[in-house]
Amino acid sequence: MNTSMRTAMCGDLGLADVGRTVTVCGWVSRRREHGEHLAFVDLRDHTGVVQCVVDGTADVRSEYVIQVQGEVRRRPEGTRNLELGTGEVELGPCTVTVLNPADPPPFAVDDRQEVDEVVRLRHRYVDLRRPRLQANIRLRATVNRAIRSAMDAQGFVEVETPLLWAPTPEGAREFVVPSRLSPGSGYALPQSPQLAKQLLMVAGIDRYYQIARCLRDEDLRADRQFEFTQLDLEASFADQTDVLGFVSEAVLGAAESATGERPQHVVTMTWAEAIDRYGTDKPDLRLGMELVDLSPVFDATGVKAFGAPCVKGIVLRGGADTARSKLDALTERAKRLGAKGLAWFRVVGDAPDGRALESPLDRFLSETERSGLLDATGATRGDLVLVVADTHRVACTVLGHLRVELAGRPVGEGPHRYVWVTDFPLFDGTGEEGHPVAAHHPFTMPHPDDLDRLESDPASVRSQAYDLVLNGWELGSGSVRIHRADIQSRVFAVLGITPEEASSRFGFLLSAFRFGAPPHAGFAVGLDRLVAIFAGEESIREVIAFPKTQSGSDPMTGAPKTLTPSVLAELGLRVLPPAD
Ligand code: AMO
Repeated sequence: MNTSMRTAMCGDLGLADVGRTVTVCGWVSRRREHGEHLAFVDLRDHTGVVQCVVDGTADVRSEYVIQVQGEVRRRPEGTRNLELGTGEVELGPCTVTVLNPADPPPFAVDDRQEVDEVVRLRHRYVDLRRPRLQANIRLRATVNRAIRSAMDAQGFVEVETPLLWAPTPEGAREFVVPSRLSPGSGYALPQSPQLAKQLLMVAGIDRYYQIARCLRDEDLRADRQFEFTQLDLEASFADQTDVLGFVSEAVLGAAESATGERPQHVVTMTWAEAIDRYGTDKPDLRLGMELVDLSPVFDATGVKAFGAPCVKGIVLRGGADTARSKLDALTERAKRLGAKGLAWFRVVGDAPDGRALESPLDRFLSETERSGLLDATGATRGDLVLVVADTHRVACTVLGHLRVELAGRPVGEGPHRYVWVTDFPLFDGTGEEGHPVAAHHPFTMPHPDDLDRLESDPASVRSQAYDLVLNGWELGSGSVRIHRADIQSRVFAVLGITPEEASSRFGFLLSAFRFGAPPHAGFAVGLDRLVAIFAGEESIREVIAFPKTQSGSDPMTGAPKTLTPSVLAELGLRVLPPAD
């Protein structure tokens, strides 16, 4: 780290350096005067802070950029600061050279201070000086390095694909770049390099990867930005097992580089199992509270509310003292999520009439149902049982939401529990025109065992698509792709994509496939999400150098900016008045 201006880094200095004369450079973190004869300057660079003692006064202020020369010496007895990495030593007597004065900072460069996010982003260059963000940005670089090394070791070739491209099929709204040379036409910024990487397979690249910037015009959240980064990969003559292996090498290697430990165990479960046990395709395995099947307990019930195809429950340990108002709020929440209602049972064991359960429904239960409910859920005194009766999908997803809302933990809080979710359905619901909608994208290979039901019962067809989930966040997705024209035409037909539309949207890919497309499969990992979890952050904005606010703006540059009439004219564009 030495340069012509410095011979040491602030945070590296310790007792082993005592006696050395060093030159350090950085920003003034704090300055204290002790009368006219002594000044203390805390100097910060990205490695840490060191105390510099100046005889006389130091004409510096917070965030001035300075160079300090001094001897490393042991701090006098009683002045050691064990909160500081360099707290056993100080530099002194020091000569201070101001390299650049600075205006007072808009906020203190201090992790402990809460600062409004817009203010932080407006002065992101100051915000990034804070140790936490310095660590996050450097962690990101460490993760990228580990990923590149794992991909290289597995024979993958890094290829850059275009940013000015045609629409890709990820399903979000595109960012469009108008063309100056062809007024009225434009490029789409890639939502992912999906089609480019499939073309690279036809091109014989065999194993491709890229740390790729992707752009999607979608609503922003803690885990979503307009621009984000994927580890994107594709491999030829490879199937799901191969891809899971490639991705595991990269992600587990990245985890090791970030946390010092290589996770030993990644669970695999099918999508159907994830929905059945956790009510979501993004199960957070840290939480326990699995969904319990209560249908056998209530299969002949007289309780009207339980007369549904599926009855499921969850147990909140120690939740029996949940107030009635909270239970009413949970019921309302369940209804907003799509359930007809929510049944609750406090397991009290000492109700006045000697019964074990307290619930408006309790008097309608038979003794067998009462004990069946307790046996099936394993609930004991002090617990709360929540029950939803509905279709399987509704009962599971409503309880899946309640599970996370009641037991949820910050995503970055350890331990890190990875899970592969496989066998996703090929389609997810129906679109406006009544056709099924691709759950992943239209190039995903159906499950071979379900191909014969593609047209007759599309909703039941599984795909060869898989996700990687970490602590309840979707880290990445991928699939085995369709490489055969006959299967592709059938899937397009089910999706309601006519041959003309297919040809106009994806003609370049389909014609490439006529020239020898190998079987291929791939995946993309959201790197912002991965690094955020490793960094223990709740939002990916904390691991991106210059993120956008929740409303999609950049308070620092003022983007998005109004386009001037001359820019609009050059692009052949006219702005319409806002719609009423
Ligand atoms: P998918 O659309 O599932 O798959 O995206 C893969 C991963 O990218 C991350 N991600 C995002 N991260 C931050 N902000 C966003 N707006 C955002 N959108 C997605 C997520 C997600 O799991 N081409 C396919 C992959 C393939 O089939 O190979 C694709 O992009 O972590």
